[in-house]
Amino acid sequence: MPSTDAKVVPKREGFSSRKVFILAAIGSAVGLGNIWRFPYVAYEGGGGAFLIPYLIALLLAGIPLLYLDYSIGHRFRGSAPLSLRRLGRGAEWLGWWQVLICIVIAVYYAAILAWAGKYTLLSFTKGWGADPNAYFFSDYLKAAETPGPTFDFVPEITLTMVLFWVIAIGVLAMGVQAGIGRTAVIFIPALVVAFIALVVISLTLDGAAAGLNAFFTPDWAALKDTGVWISAIGQIFFSLSVGFGIMITYASYVGRKTDMTGSGSVVAFSNSGFELLAGIGVFAALGFMAQSSGQDISEVVASGIGLAFIAFPAIINEAPAGALLGVLFFGSLVLAGVTSLISILEVVIGAVRDKVGISRRTATFVVGVPMAVASILMFSTTGGIYLLDTLDAFVNSFGILAVATVMMLVVSGVLAKLPELERHMDMVSSIKLRGWWRWLIGVILPIILVVMLVREMGTKIATPYEDYPAELINVFGWGMAAALPIIAIALSLIPWRRGTVLSGDPDEVLAAEEAQDALLVDGGDKA
Ligand code: ALA
Repeated sequence: MPSTDAKVVPKREGFSSRKVFILAAIGSAVGLGNIWRFPYVAYEGGGGAFLIPYLIALLLAGIPLLYLDYSIGHRFRGSAPLSLRRLGRGAEWLGWWQVLICIVIAVYYAAILAWAGKYTLLSFTKGWGADPNAYFFSDYLKAAETPGPTFDFVPEITLTMVLFWVIAIGVLAMGVQAGIGRTAVIFIPALVVAFIALVVISLTLDGAAAGLNAFFTPDWAALKDTGVWISAIGQIFFSLSVGFGIMITYASYVGRKTDMTGSGSVVAFSNSGFELLAGIGVFAALGFMAQSSGQDISEVVASGIGLAFIAFPAIINEAPAGALLGVLFFGSLVLAGVTSLISILEVVIGAVRDKVGISRRTATFVVGVPMAVASILMFSTTGGIYLLDTLDAFVNSFGILAVATVMMLVVSGVLAKLPELERHMDMVSSIKLRGWWRWLIGVILPIILVVMLVREMGTKIATPYEDYPAELINVFGWGMAAALPIIAIALSLIPWRRGTVLSGDPDEVLAAEEAQDALLVDGGDKA
């Protein structure tokens, strides 16, 4: 029976099936992190030898943390702040910290997607010309000479960013199943086909074998470097989308009887499989470039932005079927990136929706439009690239490790909730956690992560990042990283909408959810 209450108590949405949930979670996990970050991180971290810390980090850190996220979202059935609030009064701020990290990541992630969109089109004509480096920095980004924020807009980038924001906001306004779920169901198979074609073409290029040799030849000494272990864990967390609210949010949209650990394993191994495939494809292509330019692989290998927007265009210029290679590479970045951007934004939309009790569409616009404006103001200017690089280095790498560590410490040490979460997972899931998971999440991982974080801070303090000016690092690096948890505490002090069930008793949580569903026979989603 529709009632006036229907307007103030939005229905909790969900994915229509386990398959759609798994595809959406893979869509979130497989993103820029897999395609342009992993190959370089792996190469820097000892090539073939990196696979050891990488696999250990996947099994002992990534998957256990994925299960922690799942258990919180699936048991307490809310956005990150609401689920954590239901878990314990002192945990809500952690959810807001994750929301804030997502805000920062989303605003620059959208800029990279816009560049990739433009480069997909440029690939047809190799429109970057003979000098991709000069084209990217001078002609396309019109990057300022000195690193720092500017207000000089680059209209073409502004327009492309507007387009990507419209797509993201449009998908999210359609809702969990019709928007997020359906996009994943279409994009992920398309991505798999495009990416496999890309890898196959790369493997046929001259010099591909030398590239793969460079990628897989182990440098065992790297294993003694703790920095390599930090980068393995950092890579897994970002790439698997764990520790920053996404998987808590997505798990809250899953049926109550769904096998969560089994689903999580499928997601984790698909993500890592994709990552390895990306490493193979990228290094085969780099091997070709090294051979055709008469250089060593170490001279042509590049990271993130340099890999995608400078090295790849150079490869495409030389390779047979270069235009096709370019369309597949940049098209894959777009397909993979859009589904990840959507998941990052959903963390923010879900949180605002739960906190103030507004409909999906209103929440999507209230969150999406200001974020789009901020993103365009910051990153379609001639100073955008420097801001992007600094935020990525501090808020992404450092912030995710920090919030994940504090979450483990609070859930296990302060609230002592791991046994309850473990029982919840074991009740619904195929792979049982009892016996090992609690030790990993409660003791071993936090200790390792605290040691690593302290080291990472030391390194970042000792060597100014990229020799950027101190003000840039202090405001957008350290300043931003430190401000987020403080703002998060302030947000946690704002009261929840009237009537929100904050109890951690799952029966009450379920009763509240069922009451909402019953009230909203006409679909509160559209309210
Ligand atoms: N997991 C997403 C990526 O790898 C955020 O880009």
